[in-house]
Amino acid sequence: MTHAAPGTASTSPPSPEPPRRNFLAEAASYVIGGIVGLVPVAAGLAFFADPILRKKATMRGQSEDGYLSVAKVSDLPKDGTPLRFSIIADKIDSWNLFKQQTVGTVYLRNVEGSVIAFNDVCPHLGCKIDYKSSNKSFFCPCHASAFKLDGSKSNPVPPRDMDALDVRVDPSGAIWVKYQNFKRGVEKQEVL
Ligand code: FES
Repeated sequence: MTHAAPGTASTSPPSPEPPRRNFLAEAASYVIGGIVGLVPVAAGLAFFADPILRKKATMRGQSEDGYLSVAKVSDLPKDGTPLRFSIIADKIDSWNLFKQQTVGTVYLRNVEGSVIAFNDVCPHLGCKIDYKSSNKSFFCPCHASAFKLDGSKSNPVPPRDMDALDVRVDPSGAIWVKYQNFKRGVEKQEVL
């Protein structure tokens, strides 16, 4: 056992306090710096992801529920004769804009003041259906599918009737069609 010599004081220095405050301040500055640095990165990511995350706004001029303006009621013969119209719109594909693209083609009829629309793609295998004014019916030249004026099939070749499309007419007389494509070669109408 050792004892300090009488009359002498201990000379060992006081142990330093742990630098807790400094540590907390440094940690806080890293966290804040990190957040501030992430803001522009997140904004950039949101900008680039926006077209991908955007719902179905793929056509300029398209209504939110998917209708496109096609023609005017006054363009249609009043006796119900079908006319074929192309649907033209500017397509938006992620970051690109393709102007004046053909979205599809449809037959429109004015039947006693109500407008009806058919997709002109044959539900058999996808050729374009023609209208034969000589016998007032539709006919597909590829494998002879035939349809009546109301779009119902009139021979066993096509698996289903012509594909009817939803239509609405606005107060100015503009005809809006919800253009859709459907699976071919199947009995049931299935949207692609
Ligand atoms: S594609 Fe029309 S009849 Fe076959």
